[in-house]
Amino acid sequence: MLEGRPVRESITEYSEFALPNDANHLGNLLGGKVMHLVDIAGAIAAMRHARRPVVTVSIDSMSFLHPVHIGQLVILRASVNRVFRTSMEVGVKVVMEDLTAAVVKHTSSAYLTFVALDENGNPAEVSPVIPETTEEKRRFEDAGRRREHRLGLRRR
Ligand SMILES: CC(C)(COP(=O)(O)OP(=O)(O)OC[C@H]1O[C@@H](n2cnc3c(N)ncnc32)[C@H](O)[C@@H]1OP(=O)(O)O)[C@@H](O)C(=O)NCCC(=O)NCCS
Repeated sequence: MLEGRPVRESITEYSEFALPNDANHLGNLLGGKVMHLVDIAGAIAAMRHARRPVVTVSIDSMSFLHPVHIGQLVILRASVNRVFRTSMEVGVKVVMEDLTAAVVKHTSSAYLTFVALDENGNPAEVSPVIPETTEEKRRFEDAGRRREHRLGLRRR
């Protein structure tokens, strides 16, 4: 059994300034760009925890609560909610910050499952994650329920 690591050791914050190249025709950041950033932030947290390369195996549904306008900052906060064996659930919270108006809004949240790979590209066992705070313990419990749902969908 691998030694556990606290959630706090792999918490990741990743930010990107919304630039015109990534805008839709209304001048807001494309939803697909936000999903791309969510995948990157989640993968960094997963790799930082597993200390191995990881691949995304599933992304749960995502909602967009507010548009991100060009010129605003997108901030992604990712942490490992729970490790199963070779897979782990990572939660990513997306907020936008308007730097001049000093406004911060929660725009999306997503749960992603990453699988760690060994030197031959096969799934590799990951160290357990140790939830310490009340919030981390709640996410750990909820992640178990979400996994059952995901694997049920996969079987179907
Ligand atoms: C990830 C991958 C290596 C897993 O291979 P596999 O043959 O399905 O391996 P397994 O069945 O042993 O599953 C590995 C783990 O993933 C989990 N898993 C597989 N499919 C899943 C899904 N849809 N949702 C959640 N977990 C899933 C399994 O439960 C298992 O977890 P555990 O070891 O913690 O119990 C393989 O599916 C793959 O290479 N996928 C492409 C990944 C990729 O390229 N992603 C980038 C986007 S294109």
